[in-house]
Amino acid sequence: PEAIPGFPAPTVHTQEAYAPEDDFTAKWTRADARQIKAMSDPAAASRENSMPDEYTMPTVPQDFPDMSNEQVWVWDSWTLTDGSSAQPSFKGWEVVFSLVADRKLGFDDRHTYAKLGYFFRKADVAERPENGGWTYGGLVFPEGASGAIFEDQSFSHQTEWSGSTRIFDGNKLRIFYTAVAFYRNEDGSNRKPYDPRLVQSEGRLFADDNGVWMTGFRDQHDMLQADGEYYQTGEQNEFFNFRDPFTFEDPTHPGKTFMVFEGNSAFARGERACTEEDMGYAPGDPHAETADEAMDMGAHFQMANVGLAVADNAALTEWTFLPPILSANCVNDQTERPQIYIKDGKYYLFTITHRGTYAAGIDGPEGVYGFVGNGIRSDFQPVNRGSGLALGSPANLNFPAGTPFAPNPDQHPGQFQAYSHYVMPDGLVQSFIDTIGTSDDFVRGGTLAPTVRLDIEGDDVTVDRSYGTNGLGQWADIPSGYAHEIGGTP
Ligand code: FRU
Ligand code: FRU
Repeated sequence: PEAIPGFPAPTVHTQEAYAPEDDFTAKWTRADARQIKAMSDPAAASRENSMPDEYTMPTVPQDFPDMSNEQVWVWDSWTLTDGSSAQPSFKGWEVVFSLVADRKLGFDDRHTYAKLGYFFRKADVAERPENGGWTYGGLVFPEGASGAIFEDQSFSHQTEWSGSTRIFDGNKLRIFYTAVAFYRNEDGSNRKPYDPRLVQSEGRLFADDNGVWMTGFRDQHDMLQADGEYYQTGEQNEFFNFRDPFTFEDPTHPGKTFMVFEGNSAFARGERACTEEDMGYAPGDPHAETADEAMDMGAHFQMANVGLAVADNAALTEWTFLPPILSANCVNDQTERPQIYIKDGKYYLFTITHRGTYAAGIDGPEGVYGFVGNGIRSDFQPVNRGSGLALGSPANLNFPAGTPFAPNPDQHPGQFQAYSHYVMPDGLVQSFIDTIGTSDDFVRGGTLAPTVRLDIEGDDVTVDRSYGTNGLGQWADIPSGYAHEIGGTP
């Protein structure tokens, strides 16, 4: 790969596959991630997008409809999937799972009050209402069920974070999610570190002409807690990330079920653990930095990884950790909601991240990032000019990010328009709206954005602007694949 003037060359990655249990972790290096800034236009003026259009989600308008009819805040969402990540409908209904919270809360307070909720709508409808036509079904789990797994019941907050849902044997559901207990003082500081666990719970799905409902989910199976060897624990770093399980089967390893999830490299917070391999510069690159130079800037406080585990039993309640499949040491602190997407014999790892979680000296937009290889464990090639950026929200990297609650006056109004992108069959991508607008005029979201579509070809991932209206599809559109319907029509 050729270097852009003023920037280093990206790291060479072979895409070679390794066995799932091998001790090989692909690196998203600083040399790779610096390609993001290399493609940003240094002349882009205040409120313009500095990033290439082909990797930018079209701008979402401020007057969005609300999918819940003002009943709940909605953010991270996913649908029913089978082992191959196809999205079946059930008895003629489409079903979506979302993190939801009471609208009386401020939108930024949602994380410690999140619960799993669900929505349904008829499949195969030609014209839908503007807001997607969903009916809010309520909460998924019985009251108190997800808190019962914690030995220490003295939590200040107990909440349910993201995951995924698989459908088996007709109407059996297994929900893989993150059960979280917080132990906070009145001032918001930690009395002890929060406790996120990967949990599975089984239930049943039912539908008739009037709608969809669920039963079960009383027994909650504690699948995995961070181990401190591959995945950082609360003892190592009270701000650690460990969440968002996504399970799938790999046609290359039939009979096994795997899980990817968000983690951090298992070092103590502040340990100067980044290596020259994490930098990834070619020998003699004039724009290289040493690991010490990056760590002198504080980059070693950002140590994300994507974890892998393999199921030990058919009920998928018991799992064994494998080494991480990707690390972003000294690059970024969060690689969230990872998923494996198989297309044309290639394995794509997609994961979301924030502009604000990049390490010192690295910058990039909110959005979904992609890595392609020949297997679930590969020397992954970051997509798009070696950078990893698959689809960003419009952003101007010449100006500070601001925050969703206080946007920077010079930022593009779409900087925080969408997050938690999830890539669906045929390259469709759904996400939720966070904030649209700039400092003088912005609105908060809490509902799903318009669905967009990516063309995924080798290591090129580009926005399909012929989809919908100038690239924006329908609001809150999470379609099932009709070919995969389960259970027939009621
Ligand atoms: C992404 C995310 C997930 C987490 C959830 C918590 O938007 O940070 O990683 O499960 O939100 O609200
Ligand atoms: C559907 C339904 C659902 C409800 C369930 C209660 O017929 O009314 O709306 O959740 O049955 O059993």
